[in-house]
Amino acid sequence: MALFGTSIKSLDDLFVHTLRTTYYAENQIVSALATMSDQATSSELKAAFDRHRAESQTQADRLERVFALHGHDPKETTCPAFDGIEKANDAVASDTESGPVLDAALAGGAQLVEHYEIAQYGKLIAWAKALGREDCASVLAETLDEEKATDERLSAIAGGGLNQAAAQAGA
Ligand SMILES: [Fe+2]
Repeated sequence: MALFGTSIKSLDDLFVHTLRTTYYAENQIVSALATMSDQATSSELKAAFDRHRAESQTQADRLERVFALHGHDPKETTCPAFDGIEKANDAVASDTESGPVLDAALAGGAQLVEHYEIAQYGKLIAWAKALGREDCASVLAETLDEEKATDERLSAIAGGGLNQAAAQAGA
């Protein structure tokens, strides 16, 4: 299936396409995290979602800077991989009773999004460097560091009592 036809002919085209899918994802994440924060019952998890929501807005702004550095207007392109993750997370959340088990599901779902983002930014940084755009790579690296820190924070929250509370709630 030719999702994108033959409009991607070079690594530069692929870089710009991936900037657009990542920009789409970051903008979606800003609103998804507001919903996830409302659904969470753990105050620690809520705080982590609220913090990362603010970071995601900054990350979307950073992508706009990278578009500008590379001579393009910021534009979103739908990402089927991101949409699939969101669809799976939403399906689980809507089937899960509010409380510790939903908190565990939300933390795990957020980590799935982080791993997607870590892969996206990892590719973008590697391709920016290959294209001689160290300026773009260094802006993107700031975001990659934040995504990795968020993933580690979520692991610490889940391991620091959230999963144990979920295990007891289901017993
Ligand atoms: Fe992000």
